[in-house]
Amino acid sequence: MTLLKILTYPEKSLSLPSAPLEEITDEVIALTKDMGETMFEAPGVGLAAPQVGVNKRIIVYDSNAGNPEADREQKEFTALINPEITAASGSIVSEEEGCLSVVDYTSDVKRYETVTVKAQDIDGNPVEFEAKGILAVIMQHEIDHLDGILFIDRISVLKRSIYKKKLSKKLKEKE
Ligand code: NI
Repeated sequence: MTLLKILTYPEKSLSLPSAPLEEITDEVIALTKDMGETMFEAPGVGLAAPQVGVNKRIIVYDSNAGNPEADREQKEFTALINPEITAASGSIVSEEEGCLSVVDYTSDVKRYETVTVKAQDIDGNPVEFEAKGILAVIMQHEIDHLDGILFIDRISVLKRSIYKKKLSKKLKEKE
């Protein structure tokens, strides 16, 4: 397994819509394993393929996310192929939502409380499940990535401009 480079905003591939995956090849399986490892190493609870420069509809997430009884040492991830949200209800505010592709910034984001996700698993079998709370936020956040949307696209214009100013200052300092 290989640790992948996580691209950060304003990298172009993060803002592009990703194409549906046609076939789950050995390369795709290897990619999801690398993505899982990269996610846990970061550490994060979810990672979408465009974040590692692959504009295909693939996400991975921490299988124990949102489960308070889970053994935190047990690092297991789930990969979803071509995931989509088919139903959504309720409303919550994610507290200090962040993203491995958006450095040094978190914000509260308005999200649905419950979503129904339809996808294929890594073996190509259709899966459908309901996600609530933290898991629902992860699903919305990661599936947004497949449409070229970052959580900073879902906050107020004012907050976003503050973040962009902070970032451009930081990038200039680096030069
Ligand atoms: Ni993200």
